[in-house]
Parts: sequence; C-alpha cells; structure tokens
Amino acid sequence: MNQLSPLESELLAQASAATGRIEIDNLTIRLGEGRQAFDAVQEVSLSIAPGEFVCVLGPSGCGKSTLLGALAGHWRPSQGAIRVDGDPVAGPHPDRGLVFQQHTLFPWKKVLDNVAFGLKMKGIQRQERRDSARELLDLVGLAGFEDRYPIQLSGGMQQRVEIARVLINQPRVMLMDEPFGALDAQTRLKMQELLLEVWARVKTTVVFITHDIDEALFLADRILVMSPRPGRIIEELRLDFARPRHPDLVTSPEFMRLKRHCLQLLHPQARIVPLERLSPLGPQAAAHANHNV
Ligand SMILES: Nc1ncnc2c1ncn2[C@@H]1O[C@H](COP(=O)(O)OP(=O)(O)O)[C@@H](O)[C@H]1O
Ligand SMILES: [Mg+2]
Repeated sequence: MNQLSPLESELLAQASAATGRIEIDNLTIRLGEGRQAFDAVQEVSLSIAPGEFVCVLGPSGCGKSTLLGALAGHWRPSQGAIRVDGDPVAGPHPDRGLVFQQHTLFPWKKVLDNVAFGLKMKGIQRQERRDSARELLDLVGLAGFEDRYPIQLSGGMQQRVEIARVLINQPRVMLMDEPFGALDAQTRLKMQELLLEVWARVKTTVVFITHDIDEALFLADRILVMSPRPGRIIEELRLDFARPRHPDLVTSPEFMRLKRHCLQLLHPQARIVPLERLSPLGPQAAAHANHNV
C-alpha cells in the first residue's frame, strides 16, 4: 500500500484546511419593483479557490457592486445560491470582510482602537486585541500611527487602516469594492503593491471589484469581465504574470495585449478580435509585424 510521506501528509492537511472557497451557482439578483424590475446580476456561476485573487472588471453600472453585495450577504439571491466553504451565505459576517471606496472607520476612535474593534466584538481581552491591532498596523506599514485619529491620515493611510480593520477578524474572504477608486494615481499604485504584499502574507481569498483595466491586470490571478444590463460574466482571463508583481509589468507586451483585449470587451461597439490574434501594439503594428516575417 502507498503510504504518504510526512511532507505529503502535511500538504494534504494544509489543502484540506484551506478556507475561503467561494461557489456561486446560477445566481440572479433582481432589483427594482414591478415594471422597473431588472436583473442586475443574471445567471452567474463561478468558483473561486481558497487564497485566489480574483478581479471582477466591468463598466460603471454593470452590477459589480450588486454581485459583491450578494457575496457580503446584503442581497438575497432571487435565484441560485452562494456558498463559502460549503455554507450558504445567509447575511453579513466578519468572515467576509468588506472594503469600500470610502472608509468606514469611527472618526472618534484612534487608529489602534478602530483596528482592534472587531476583536472587542468577539469579547477578546483588551491587551490581546491591542497587540493584534499593532501587528496588523505594522503589516500595512502604519507602525507609529496608532494614536492618530482617522481625519489626521491621508486617504491612502485611511484605506490601510481599513484593510487592517478587516483583516483582524481573519476573514476567509476579503471583498473589495473599488477600494482605491478615490485615491490619486500615484497613491493608487502604491496601494496596489501594498495589497499584494499583505495578501501574500495572509493568503485570504480576495474578490476585488474595479472598472480599471490596469488595476485588474496588475492585481489578479484571474479576471472575470462583466457586461451591463443584464449583468453577466462574459469572459474569464487567467493571468500568468509572475509574483511578486513589479510595477514594470504594465509596460510588458503581454500586459498591453491583454489590456487591448479588455478594452474591446468593455466597449461593446468595438469589433472583437480573438485574443490569440491580438498584438500588444494594435492592428497596424500586427500587420506590419506580419509583413516583416
Ligand atoms: N437598490 C437598488 N434598486 C434598484 N436598482 C439598483 C439598486 N442598486 C443599484 N441599482 C442599479 O443596478 C445596476 C447595477 O448597479 P451596481 O451593482 O451598483 O453597478 P456597478 O457597481 O457595476 O457600478 C445599476 O443600473 C444601478 O443603477
Ligand atoms: Mg459599484
């Protein structure tokens, strides 16, 4: 009989202990009343592996926030089902942490107490929750800012605190709805890198909503592209870019090629060129390149 080596046993134990598997099965979310009713999300089926980083990319109004809201437990499925680690999503829970474009910190609490708050709700002792909060603030690069109030921080720093506030609950899944959308371009890039560093350490599943193609391509293991009215997943792109991702990635030919493809998907009038026929530089460059061969 084949016996497992100690290493194999350990890997197997790790794999079975992994949490944060999301399964969405034929999900429809119908919004509005009577004749105004419409499917904001229609017949979406997908599965996300524990620890995977998935971006949902689509134009404004296509149903991204509705889909994320359903995962958070704010919307009940009109049809279909959502399960996390096999359990149906029945309402909001700290196991599924949410980060929005605007932070949800208590303005009257110091940074440390904002981050520690989730543990207070769980009845954990003051010293222990403050120690954990310090650790998380260190993780998001905010050691030394424990005694500030949210208003005394920049927008990027507020979002770092927000991420720490969510992570202190050790969520199975982190749900992020355009979390860097209100930040200036420079800060946004820094925050994307920070998020990837943090994610590499905590290994939680991330579902990240964005309408920014560069952001999705830089961050994700996999991009799900959504189309508007009805909100459906129209394409899935797996990204094989090496990790850790470097800012130079955005200038690589493969990145540009995928970006052009996403641009076409987000502009329904555009003629869709199959991905394998797309060059990084555009149709003329492709024709030119063929000419040279
Ligand atoms: N509570 C609601 N009632 C009715 N319609 C809504 C509600 N919330 C959002 N919508 C509509 O549903 C569609 C999808 O919205 P949303 O999920 O917020 O899109 P996105 O996040 O992609 O911009 C939009 O047309 C929006 O106007
Ligand atoms: Mg939205």
